[in-house]
Amino acid sequence: MDVDRAITERRTTKRYTAEEVPEEIVRELVELATWAPNHKMSAPWRFRLLGPDATRSLVDVAPPDKKPKMTLAPTRLLVSCKVAGDPTRRLEDLLATAAAVQTLLLAATGRGIDTFWQSPTVAALPAARGLLGIPDDEELVAVVNLGYSSADRTTPGRLPVDDVFEALA
Ligand SMILES: Cc1cc2nc3c(=O)[nH]c(=O)nc-3n(C[C@H](O)[C@H](O)[C@H](O)COP(=O)(O)O)c2cc1C
Repeated sequence: MDVDRAITERRTTKRYTAEEVPEEIVRELVELATWAPNHKMSAPWRFRLLGPDATRSLVDVAPPDKKPKMTLAPTRLLVSCKVAGDPTRRLEDLLATAAAVQTLLLAATGRGIDTFWQSPTVAALPAARGLLGIPDDEELVAVVNLGYSSADRTTPGRLPVDDVFEALA
């Protein structure tokens, strides 16, 4: 799949088959994600594949209405950013980690893998951080849900390019 198609065909997907994405493919996606741009080459990103015990921890800690959202996909990757230094460095490292997440999503799309960038609200709860062993110097950026779907996905429209672009003289 070419890059333009991966960009437009990536879709937030919330219904998956039970088929897991093999760990070796997840590792491949993570390796590609680390090619994201990164000022000072700080490599701030960290990726944790959440196995059954880790997922159970999230389900246990989640408030009742959020429990089903912890297992939407068969495969989950927690992405965090090591934060250190002054506010500029911190912001740049977080931005680089977000770029790494998008890179990973596009690489997944290119392989026919469906994804969902989920806010790590539950994983960020102190109890969940403790159970997952997340160090205090890491800020959570995403839970990336991965899997395969046969369901139709809605395609949220985008603003016309003229609404978001101008060419300055
Ligand atoms: C930082 C970030 C956090 C997100 N968190 C959630 C979330 O917690 N729940 C959710 O339903 N979608 C979440 N999304 C996905 C957006 O809702 C989705 O990208 C948007 O609706 C556009 O749909 P598309 O990804 O199919 O283009 C998140 C996206 C980003 C970039």
